[in-house]
Amino acid sequence: MSHVFHRNPAHRYPTVVRGEGVYLFDEDGKRYLDGSSGAAVSCLGHSDPEVIAAIKAQVEKLAFAHTSFFTNEPMEALADELVAHAPAGISKAFFVSSGSEAIEAALKLARQYYLEIGQPQRRHVVARRQSYHGNTLGALATGGNLWRRRQFDPLLIGVSHVSPCYAYRGKQAGESDEAYGARLAAELVAEIQRLGPDTVIAFVAETVVGATLGAATPVPGYFKAIREICDQYGILLILDEVMCGMGRTGSLYACEQEGVVPDLVAIAKGLGAGYQPIGALLSSQRIFDAVVAGSGFFQHGHTYVGHAVACAAALAVQRALRERDLVRQVAGLGAGLERRLRERFGEHPHVGEIRGRGLLWALELVEDRATKKPFDPKRRLSARIKASALDHGLLCYPMAGTLDGVNGDHVLLAPPFIVTEAQLDELTEKLARAVEETLGEG
Ligand SMILES: Cc1ncc(COP(=O)(O)O)c(C=O)c1O
Repeated sequence: MSHVFHRNPAHRYPTVVRGEGVYLFDEDGKRYLDGSSGAAVSCLGHSDPEVIAAIKAQVEKLAFAHTSFFTNEPMEALADELVAHAPAGISKAFFVSSGSEAIEAALKLARQYYLEIGQPQRRHVVARRQSYHGNTLGALATGGNLWRRRQFDPLLIGVSHVSPCYAYRGKQAGESDEAYGARLAAELVAEIQRLGPDTVIAFVAETVVGATLGAATPVPGYFKAIREICDQYGILLILDEVMCGMGRTGSLYACEQEGVVPDLVAIAKGLGAGYQPIGALLSSQRIFDAVVAGSGFFQHGHTYVGHAVACAAALAVQRALRERDLVRQVAGLGAGLERRLRERFGEHPHVGEIRGRGLLWALELVEDRATKKPFDPKRRLSARIKASALDHGLLCYPMAGTLDGVNGDHVLLAPPFIVTEAQLDELTEKLARAVEETLGEG
């Protein structure tokens, strides 16, 4: 009997023992194609020799030294690397160990910024429904994922939530993308007005919504309108690119494709590609300057901030992305994945929408395509598709609650950037088998 407190103690998890390229192997030698990079993490696959060598070299030199005493070489080099390729205006990196920690740091730095510049009355955060920003209490409160939040509600700070940009269901009949984006922007303005414009700290959003809505891309112009509103009211724009950043959508930062620069951006997953746990909060010079000119220090931190081995791994990952031109390849491979998904599922009676960007795609499943009626949640479609895919040797990332935390199902796909065309065929075939078998079983 296992003494591990597993996520789901009733479930029997296969034991994974080895990774090779885009494949994972369990103790029985069964092979799994990692069609979701776990949860959009393993962008370089599972056995990258350069990243492994960088980790070994760093451990042999220095594993850990607390950042209240020292800086370290890989942390400095990683910050240089990230800032050199970050959106204009982003000039500092604060390192943490996860996406949730990056969001916590963003919330605290945003609040501290307003104290530093003499606006202590600012205390409200606005985010969006059907978003996920992490599982620590501040990040969970910011997220709008009802299912994840519900039971912890009494412990959560008050964050208001406006509508996500989710064109498939949010756009009204006959409404243009432009009008839809403008309507959402007006909703944000109304919420800022309701709270009191000089009391709001920040607006937080995933540039492309990952797990909760399933690769929901914003309509053109939406984020430009949001950026203007933030500027107009002196509010910080915090983008969560924990899942969609670091090349996943075909540009290093997803916001590059929206033509906006956030004040703070959270990254994780693809930063270290799973070789080490690492996240980062990237900050604009303006926020950094305010802290330096004010109290002089960021009142935050964890023991493993700037961990030398984690930074060395992430540095090797980021250099690999750049030197191997992988982010540009994501766009090409993404087009191949999209084509396959449209060929296989485009006319499927239970696939309502195929959406995504780069190598982040999702199928939204519906009972009825015409009315977009979701399946009865009692059918537990997402969980069953995940299990069936695993049986067939495929990792994909199905989620329930697409519409409102309870109703709706989607399957998220996010293969490693090193995936081949033949492996995309394998992914699509295995996914189709899992979807058909699950739907066929009722
Ligand atoms: C958009 C987004 N933000 C934050 C997080 C939290 O990251 P972590 O699980 O590393 O704490 C996730 C994780 O899935 C995520 O997808």
